[in-house]
Amino acid sequence: MLGPVLLAAARSDRMRRVVAAAPVTRPVVNRFVAGDELHRAMDAVRTLTSSGLDVTLDHLGEDVHDRATAHATRDAYLRLLETLRDQKLAARAEVSVKLSAFGQALPDGGHDIALDGVRRVAELATEIGTTVTLDMEDHTTVDSTLAVLHELRREHPSTGAVLQSYLFRTEDDARALATAGSRVRLVKGAYKEPAGVAFQDKRDVDKAYVRALRTLFAGDGHPMVGSHDPRMIAIAQELAARHHRGPGTYEFQMLYGIRTAEQRRLADEGERMRIYVPYGADWYGYFMRRLAERPANLAFFLRSFAPTGR
Ligand code: FDA
Repeated sequence: MLGPVLLAAARSDRMRRVVAAAPVTRPVVNRFVAGDELHRAMDAVRTLTSSGLDVTLDHLGEDVHDRATAHATRDAYLRLLETLRDQKLAARAEVSVKLSAFGQALPDGGHDIALDGVRRVAELATEIGTTVTLDMEDHTTVDSTLAVLHELRREHPSTGAVLQSYLFRTEDDARALATAGSRVRLVKGAYKEPAGVAFQDKRDVDKAYVRALRTLFAGDGHPMVGSHDPRMIAIAQELAARHHRGPGTYEFQMLYGIRTAEQRRLADEGERMRIYVPYGADWYGYFMRRLAERPANLAFFLRSFAPTGR
């Protein structure tokens, strides 16, 4: 019930100021975010990759409304890729980008501005031997994001996309993207969406997730199972066996700090397990979506406000 309230708060500047200024917020944020700075994120990447996990890095930021900030996002990703190259981590670490941080919503030509910025990132990623995945944001951005994907895949065919099972359109999108070389991360969806475009009942979202999983595993692409849900993970493993897919022809993905024992278990079983590692100072929207997903996370956060010693 609190989920929609938190998702609305995730887009409120006033709430952003209140939450970010609370001194108790930081330790809770640290559970989900690898640090404000690149060098902190690289510490996490080294720890994860040396224990057999792969990563995808997200330089936090979204809903950018001026060109200068959009360019700063692009430059931050270029720095990140140079660092991965210099530290010889490109084989195990890719990057995830949100096109709204590249200026997608700018009123004059936002789509093209975002495409130009992310194209530079994809070029460097290809050059150093890694990949880019385009995160999916709210439903108003899906057409533009899939059009950017289509453009990028001409030159960089392993550019990945994200599909959200809560959207009615996703079954069709999954069919269209289940083709050779196509990397698709399937998630349930983290934004507040209207009933006209998305399932509202969690059971319907889960059923739609399974339908899209079936389509992706039956196709020729590379499914990326972005979920912490044990049922979805078990179904994905059954589908992999049914379609005679070996490890490396699909992968599991989970968020940094969430179900870490399960991350370890899957990697130890020989599955490819990739951890989504967010870093940067603009953690507010990401953090609020994590609280909205799980009442226990919210309770943990609220408990940290309680005075100590009683
Ligand atoms: P669900 O929410 O049903 O949870 C299943 C179980 O997982 C819970 O019972 C709990 O045990 C555990 N769990 C789930 N969330 C937790 C949390 N926050 N804290 C602690 N435990 C938790 N969304 C989007 O709209 N666009 C995107 O681009 C992405 N990208 C993305 C990348 C990756 C790698 C992942 C894993 C997820 C995303 N998401 C996303 C988020 C996604 O849409 C979804 O909101 C969350 O993954 C939660 O859904 P689950 O499938 O994990 O299941």
